[in-house]
Amino acid sequence: MRLIHPPLIRKEQIQQKVSYLAEKIRQDIRIEYLHVITVLNGAVFFATDLLRELPPVASVDFIKAQSYCGSNSSGNVRIHYTDFPEITGKQVLIIEDILDTGLTTQKLWDFLMSQSPEALYLCVLLEKKKQRTGVTIMSNYVGFHIEDKFVVGYGMDYNGKFRNLPDIYILDLNNNM
Ligand code: IMP
Ligand code: MG
Repeated sequence: MRLIHPPLIRKEQIQQKVSYLAEKIRQDIRIEYLHVITVLNGAVFFATDLLRELPPVASVDFIKAQSYCGSNSSGNVRIHYTDFPEITGKQVLIIEDILDTGLTTQKLWDFLMSQSPEALYLCVLLEKKKQRTGVTIMSNYVGFHIEDKFVVGYGMDYNGKFRNLPDIYILDLNNNM
């Protein structure tokens, strides 16, 4: 496997987009009443950058969702709910790294909706351009629409690797150089 150069999205472009998204979010939502739920592990880099561009939110929590093994979505999504915050009647923003099949986010969305929040919003850094079956969720905020390729960096990994790269790269999985 090999990183394809140049990066698909450079850190400067990410920074610009994060500022843009933060501005959009503060135009739409009363930030002081906003409860943020960040999906571990991939969205952590994006969420911490985005949150530092917002005024104080009401709370920041993390939830672990896993569906991936290597580069294939297993469709078998596990959400770890321990210490889950009370969100009934609250305004909640989910921060996700990437929407691929959308199955993980759909499952999380359905779970959060079952807790009757006042409003639920979804912000994703990347959304792959593809058909999604069995998925009805729509992102409220999207950083970049990308081709249906496997990407790493800025929080996104391949079996744990490449997460800490500041830029986002397409990963060529067929090349072992
Ligand atoms: P989905 O359920 O297929 O939409 O994807 C769920 C999760 O898989 C995402 O939140 C990411 O954490 C991970 N994922 C999906 N596509 C990629 C990718 O291209 N690179 C790295 N991780 C990915
Ligand atoms: Mg994720």
